[in-house]
Amino acid sequence: MNIMSGQCVFGQKKHLFFLPLSEKKKKNGPKSLRDLRAERQAQAERSVLVSCHPKTHENKFLKYLSRHGNVNKCFFYESFGTYAVVEFSNQDGVQSLLESAAMPSVSHESVVPLRSRLLSLRNVNTVDTDKQSAPSANHRELCPSTTHSLTDENTRLRFLVCSLLNDIAAAYFPQSSIKPFGSSVNGFGKLGCDLDMILDLDGTICVRPQPRSGMYMEYLVKRTSSERAVTQSVLSVIAGCLDQFGPGCVGVQKILNARCPLVRFAHQPSGFQCDLTASNRVAMRSTELLYLFGELDARVRPLVFTVRCWARAHGVTSPIPGAWITNFSLTIMVLFFLQRRNPPILPTLDRLKELAEPSEKCVLDGNDCTFTSDFHRISLETNTETLDQLLGDFFEFYSTFIFNRMSINLGRYGKEHKPELHPLYIQNPFETSLNISKNVNSSQLERFVTLCQESAWLLQSGSHLNTLLLPSHISVVRGRKKRKSQPASERIKGLLESLRIKNNVSFGFTVFF
Ligand code: CTP
Ligand code: MG
Repeated sequence: MNIMSGQCVFGQKKHLFFLPLSEKKKKNGPKSLRDLRAERQAQAERSVLVSCHPKTHENKFLKYLSRHGNVNKCFFYESFGTYAVVEFSNQDGVQSLLESAAMPSVSHESVVPLRSRLLSLRNVNTVDTDKQSAPSANHRELCPSTTHSLTDENTRLRFLVCSLLNDIAAAYFPQSSIKPFGSSVNGFGKLGCDLDMILDLDGTICVRPQPRSGMYMEYLVKRTSSERAVTQSVLSVIAGCLDQFGPGCVGVQKILNARCPLVRFAHQPSGFQCDLTASNRVAMRSTELLYLFGELDARVRPLVFTVRCWARAHGVTSPIPGAWITNFSLTIMVLFFLQRRNPPILPTLDRLKELAEPSEKCVLDGNDCTFTSDFHRISLETNTETLDQLLGDFFEFYSTFIFNRMSINLGRYGKEHKPELHPLYIQNPFETSLNISKNVNSSQLERFVTLCQESAWLLQSGSHLNTLLLPSHISVVRGRKKRKSQPASERIKGLLESLRIKNNVSFGFTVFF
């Protein structure tokens, strides 16, 4: 099996796994999430988002843009209209374009006079009537199917949305920064996944050593009872701003009494469902941990991705909140399983902690979040199991897992005893007193286990992976209420067909990375 070159064998039939490895990554090893973020953030800050006419002539548009600066990258996409993401090679291009932009003149309405990098391309010679002006092949849907992992364009757009929103937050907190976390950046995201963001105010809190003598200045600030109260009031104001002034932000909801207060809204120009939090540093750290695990072994992401597709096809996970297992929980379950292979494919979190340099020590909100992010310090044991073996054994592993006594935790071996009575106990990697799956009820867990048993059995009896993705082939799904919409089997069939056509291949299941 050679996954790095994009191929591996599942059972008797061939399945392709695409892992686009940039030349740089091949030569220098994986990039750290910190470097990746910095690169994406810089790109986003040099970019604008432009609403366009669907028949915008690309070359003319580029010519127009080049009057303002050098364009590094420009691509179009469709989401409630046509949009272009334009990245200039430096900030001057953005400034020049913004300075040339006018406020819309309206006769029967009034506008909120907020200038942002979300623009609208108007008229003069950008719409052609000749035949060549048909929408360019370059116009694409950014979320064509939720079975694809995030593309470069989709990731750019995610960082750009954060950067656009940060411009609004910066009106109050100029040192703040809105950063994506969760599956948008941890390497396990699919097209269509939500955009989780944190408003990082740490840049605002400049802790300076107090001089031993003499005068010094302090900011005169309001005080509140707790950090949580600060988070709630900051988010409440930002939510109000997004609702009243934020171009493209709709359906803004304040969910401030949750364990982790957040603002939920839809960003229409990008089509992203957004969750903005403000004091979620630990979740940023677990994003880094998941990213690291995904980079450590080339089998991790394809396996997680396949399990997530399987879970979605059988209604184990759902986009609607409820008593279901979440993608985050499912990802931890796969990582835990990979730590328990013999020899292990992934190290435990405690091992990563031991390998950390003193400079990597990290305590957040009283939680020890230390682990090494240095790939060179982590040596892995040789495990040559193929993805098909791993998938079969994953189902087998959870078919027989003693859920009523054991917990799932990425920490270390021998610490899996379950501390409480929830049917499924998956320890939060850093806030170790929290169970990330306490929403899961026993009937959902039973469904998961039964599906694992049947899937393990189907794979052992030589069935193809496709079969596992067709709910009709698994008995526990029988007898459930029929969906009103197209049956899942039809949707999956259609999806497989579209993947087949897209890649011009004549084999079974294809996973895109
Ligand atoms: N998170 C957490 N504890 C939870 C739920 C979430 O720490 N109980 C953190 C994780 O870091 C997670 C992030 O919040 O990655 C975002 O949560 P969510 O959107 O539910 O999960 P994603 O990993 O982003 O997966 P999805 O693709 O389903 O959005
Ligand atoms: Mg998410």
